[in-house]
Amino acid sequence: MKKEVRILLIGEPKVGKTSLVLSLVSEEFSAVVPPKAEEITIPADVTPERVPTLIVDYSCQEQSEAQLKIEVRKANVICVVYAVNDDDSIRKLTSKWLPFIRSSLENPDERIPVVLVGNKADLSHTSKLDLVLPIMNEYSEVETCIECSARTMRNLSETFWFAQKAVLYPTAPLYIPDNKTLT
Ligand code: GTP
Ligand code: MG
Repeated sequence: MKKEVRILLIGEPKVGKTSLVLSLVSEEFSAVVPPKAEEITIPADVTPERVPTLIVDYSCQEQSEAQLKIEVRKANVICVVYAVNDDDSIRKLTSKWLPFIRSSLENPDERIPVVLVGNKADLSHTSKLDLVLPIMNEYSEVETCIECSARTMRNLSETFWFAQKAVLYPTAPLYIPDNKTLT
């Protein structure tokens, strides 16, 4: 069992990465948030899987791409956040963020589990999962997809729980879809 889980949140500006972290920690939505949340550790006893969990925010306002690459390499799981009411943030999942994660890793065969997180679900009556689910076929590191809201807190704790589970019970080391072998 891992001793801790390090979760990194990335994605386009303004999709609500910082709001997700701060809503989870303070249990209320704040309309005003800083560009980047402080790194926080959730103690083991309040996480569903009983593992201390570090949550790391990212902001392009405060961090360079080189710094982001370092964070990607340190992460155990990455939540790539989009906003359900922002189609461009969905397109960038495959045109930018997932390729960026792969290209940041030192070993080209290495994979870090990814959770695709659709925030701002309170602003849309329809789900965008039909656009997002096919990405799982193209990028085997995508463990799951979830839609949530930092504002209403719907699916908020579930989002971080899915990220924990992607690290603790990964599917990738058991079955590598690319070459169809069990390892
Ligand atoms: P950068 O740090 O600039 O990359 O942005 P970010 O991804 O951290 O987004 P941030 O948390 O700063 O939120 C951007 C805006 O979206 C703010 O005005 C938030 O109040 C708003 N917002 C964040 N989450 C939600 C949500 O779930 N619902 C709604 N309606 N608004 C949200
Ligand atoms: Mg932010």
